[in-house]
Amino acid sequence: MKIVLIGYMGSGKSTIGLKLATCLGLSFYDLDTYITETLGKEIPEIFREKGELFFRLEETKLLQQLLMRQDDLVLATGGGTPCYGRNMDLMQELADRVIYLKVAPAELVKRLAPEKENRPLLQPLNLSDMPEFIAKHLFERSRYYSRAQLTVDGTGKNPDALVTEICALL
Ligand code: S3P
Repeated sequence: MKIVLIGYMGSGKSTIGLKLATCLGLSFYDLDTYITETLGKEIPEIFREKGELFFRLEETKLLQQLLMRQDDLVLATGGGTPCYGRNMDLMQELADRVIYLKVAPAELVKRLAPEKENRPLLQPLNLSDMPEFIAKHLFERSRYYSRAQLTVDGTGKNPDALVTEICALL
């Protein structure tokens, strides 16, 4: 079984993905980590040196590579992954389940404020501009996220409870 987790930055895709994979006895992959390891550079460095377009092209290529693997897996994507090129179609075609981890904007702001320097899209913002940016950005991206077969609400939930909830839905 191939399970893909999508959702906005800070929605917990990597944390939940690893726990879900462990619980189901599947391999776990994190697309951002795979990009970093393959290119030998951290994400902010890739954006700074090569630009976002280069990042998006590599992201699509490496997403496809991971989805074509023979082993069963849980894959945590980046927040923008479903929103570019044919990525969402690819995930729908090659994975058994695409799951959207939905988290309310106010909670995303709280989670992302302390780590905004690691997120190239948030890094230039003032803290005071984050609530409006995230609300708008999430709204724009929701039309991609909402194509997932399953949506689970992670707002205010601890990771273990959320993983139990997801397992019951599979
Ligand atoms: C991005 C999200 C990041 C990373 C890159 C772009 C986005 O992943 O892929 O900074 O466009 O939302 P996370 O969702 O794991 O932070």
